[in-house]
Amino acid sequence: MEELFNSVFKSLGYENETKIVKSNNADYQCDDLFKLAKTYHKSPMTIGEEVVLEINKLSNFTDYFESVSLASPGFINIMVSDKYICDRLRNLINKDMLGAKKENKKIVIDYGGPNVAKPLHVGHLRTAIIGQSINNILKFVGNDTISDVHLGDIGLQMGQVIYGILQDYPDTNFENVELTLDYLNNTYPKMSALCKESEQVKNECALITKSLQDRDEQYLVLWKKIMDVSLKDVRRIYDYLSVYFDYWYGESDAYKEFDEMIPYLEKQGVVRLDDGAKIIDVKEENDKIDVPPCIIQKSNGAYLYATSDLGTIWQRGRDFHPDNIIYVTDNRQDLYFTQVFRAAKKSHMFDGVLEHYGYGTVNGADNKPFKTRDGGTLKLEDLINEVKKEFVNLREENKDMEKEDLDKIVNAIIKFADLQNDFERNYIFDIKKFSEVNGKTGPYVLYTYLRINKIISENNNVLSDTVYSESDRALRLKLLEVSDVINQAVKERKPHYIANYLYDLSVTANNFYQNNKISGLSGNVKDDFEVVLGFNNKVTKTLLQLLGIHLPTNM
Ligand code: ARG
Repeated sequence: MEELFNSVFKSLGYENETKIVKSNNADYQCDDLFKLAKTYHKSPMTIGEEVVLEINKLSNFTDYFESVSLASPGFINIMVSDKYICDRLRNLINKDMLGAKKENKKIVIDYGGPNVAKPLHVGHLRTAIIGQSINNILKFVGNDTISDVHLGDIGLQMGQVIYGILQDYPDTNFENVELTLDYLNNTYPKMSALCKESEQVKNECALITKSLQDRDEQYLVLWKKIMDVSLKDVRRIYDYLSVYFDYWYGESDAYKEFDEMIPYLEKQGVVRLDDGAKIIDVKEENDKIDVPPCIIQKSNGAYLYATSDLGTIWQRGRDFHPDNIIYVTDNRQDLYFTQVFRAAKKSHMFDGVLEHYGYGTVNGADNKPFKTRDGGTLKLEDLINEVKKEFVNLREENKDMEKEDLDKIVNAIIKFADLQNDFERNYIFDIKKFSEVNGKTGPYVLYTYLRINKIISENNNVLSDTVYSESDRALRLKLLEVSDVINQAVKERKPHYIANYLYDLSVTANNFYQNNKISGLSGNVKDDFEVVLGFNNKVTKTLLQLLGIHLPTNM
């Protein structure tokens, strides 16, 4: 349709690359008249009249249009013909990747990033499910993605837990210390509180952390034990959420790169000594805010969070040669990543594209970051269990649900609640609302799919040229949007385009279902409806997978 419009513009003497967009007043519209009016010094309406007249004279008009008309102050409204809709849909059904644009880049995605030795909490939810969804989407369109969890495995919390173990097992050979998850879960908060009370304990924990970073063999024995116990639990929860990593590297792995990387940075002339600390200036002329230098080594020799991220970029560049590295963290790290990326670019250690996406918080009913009733941080597992309880208590039948189905629904509730929001924004996670089968929820989309799935059968029918009703027409037009939706999500790295489209598609499909008695039909109508609904379900299933949501067999 765009090509057709362009040729008409051209035949009238207007050079134009048109973009036909969705419209509220018609099926589609063309908004180019204002732009052309400026270039050609005519009124938008004058140009519009010429164009509309010409289009209405085309011999193949009905292959595309039902009507093309001009609306003031200068829009061309387009209603497409049934033939056009059927042609396009037949075409789309046969395309790979739901008609999305193919890409073929190598992309590292860094998400998850939990700090080992403490349990996952609500704050870890978004990076995991947004990051995994971006990964799924980029892979779907053909990219070679590599996911890396980038564990916080060598920070102060490790020193604190080791300090706790030293207190609890004073005379034990480290080899013989047996740790449990409960022990770890208790020790970290206890030590963290102690450090707030006692400057001396805090210093000791910092010293232990430093020795650990210098690979003290004794501490490494304990470190490995902590890693084993803690990671087993972290993996269990990620598995539950279908969050997967190709690499389980941690900050400690980046430390192995420093002996090469730091001399390299120095050789590049970007490092400056400041009071004994090694820093890289990353301020730029057009900065609207102050961008402080990136500190890579403190005067006491200690490395920082930024050093480990630079070491990781160094390692990824060398080992994977990615075109892009994508980071998904909360938006309080926006400035931090600006510093790190600039330091990496300034030193020319990585020539690909570095992208950071910062998301907002998950809030409770009070619109403040989600907390437990007594104000503590909510463990991720407790949140999952609360959602499960809410859904089970919703209806009597839910109590007998298969465990696997229930887990898939819990995933759908949590992920759809989250991913329907542009991740830059905070959102309120209202467990009750998002568990309902009605409304903009995961269960609603799942239910719509299952209900349609029951009435259609496998078929190889080819769509005819007839559209049977308004609701049929609406569903087909909605389905035609899918390729653009995926392209948009890929381009902006934003899964919410897909989640919102999925919801709209479900509403449109439900409307179709309610207005067309499919069970009593036969012949062409039945064949065509099976194609349309079959494709609707293929699209739904595929897009759900991109969000990390899997279909239950029953609900
Ligand atoms: N462990 C970090 C934290 O808890 C998040 C890691 C994010 N990823 C990264 N490459 N820095 O804040």
